[in-house]
Amino acid sequence: MARTILEIRDLEKVYDGGFTALHAVSLDIREGEIFALLGPNGAGKTTLIGTICGLVQPSGGRVTVAGHDTATEYRAARSLIGLVPQEVNLEPFEKVINTVRFSRGLFGKPRNEALIEHVLRQLSLWDKRDSQIRALSGGMKRRVLIAKALAHEPRILFLDEPTAGVDVELRRDMWEVVRGLKEDGVTIILTTHYIEEAEAMADRVGVITRGRLLLVEDKDALMSRLGRKELVIELREPLKAVPDELAGHGLEVLGDGRLLFTYDTQAERTGITRLLAAVQASGLHLRDVETRTSSLEEIFVGLVTEENGADQSGEAAP
Ligand SMILES: Nc1ncnc2c1ncn2[C@@H]1O[C@H](COP(=O)(O)OP(=O)(O)OP(=O)(O)O)[C@@H](O)[C@H]1O
Ligand SMILES: [Mg+2]
Repeated sequence: MARTILEIRDLEKVYDGGFTALHAVSLDIREGEIFALLGPNGAGKTTLIGTICGLVQPSGGRVTVAGHDTATEYRAARSLIGLVPQEVNLEPFEKVINTVRFSRGLFGKPRNEALIEHVLRQLSLWDKRDSQIRALSGGMKRRVLIAKALAHEPRILFLDEPTAGVDVELRRDMWEVVRGLKEDGVTIILTTHYIEEAEAMADRVGVITRGRLLLVEDKDALMSRLGRKELVIELREPLKAVPDELAGHGLEVLGDGRLLFTYDTQAERTGITRLLAAVQASGLHLRDVETRTSSLEEIFVGLVTEENGADQSGEAAP
């Protein structure tokens, strides 16, 4: 297993005014992975990134980047990080190449034209290098932000909603760019509202809501859950238990007296035909059949609403 490049321990943020935006968040990021942080508006994604990058003062906890503590060795830690902010904040009259050179200079790194060229080419911006920022499309501006964040050769790149407000085609473009960066060996942490985006790119997924990290899991494991489907069977009479004739099919009885059959859509045999044949043979009267899919979206929405229902105050649980 890859080694840990970023270690976050019990990170807390209480904003002035007393609002707790992060509740003891702990997370290890593995070198070379793409980690997607999913969460609704106001979940604390930008706060988490800001705290790691030194834009937000943490109220508690500890962060180390390749062993450097962000509190006691800030410069060493920060120089390993590239940050692509959520908001586009570029100088409209500056030329693309100059703004990228400038970002490198901010970290005290010596000029390196070959590197700047590599970064601009990687982001398909080389042809635009002498254009003013204001002459670029929205998607290009986002790519300039990435180029700026890469100019000082960071090992970890944070992308805070890289595709917010970007059309579908550009979004896929951006996914390609991010995959390319991963191939270059950059560790990537991105935030997104789009589950589809996490599915497309991430090695691992974390779900954050109301300042709490609710789940961290391999994307593939989540996807195999996504492959599960449910068949709900309603008989003429509501049931209290699975009828003997239908034992051995792995059925469950729902609270409303219907039967639930869960199957794997990727399996060679779903077992549906066999089950329905057994229903027929048993003489039980089928009234209705319904199928449902449990998707990552559902898992996500379920987690988020559950958490919101449990804690409306926004304050730490006692
Ligand atoms: N400077 C601040 N002062 C006080 N509260 C803040 C400040 N910045 C953020 N917050 C609050 O902290 C919470 C988390 O905000 P944050 O921007 O981290 O969320 P987010 O997950 O990035 O949301 P979005 O998806 O909308 O970008 C929100 O309730 C927000 O109002
Ligand atoms: Mg945000």
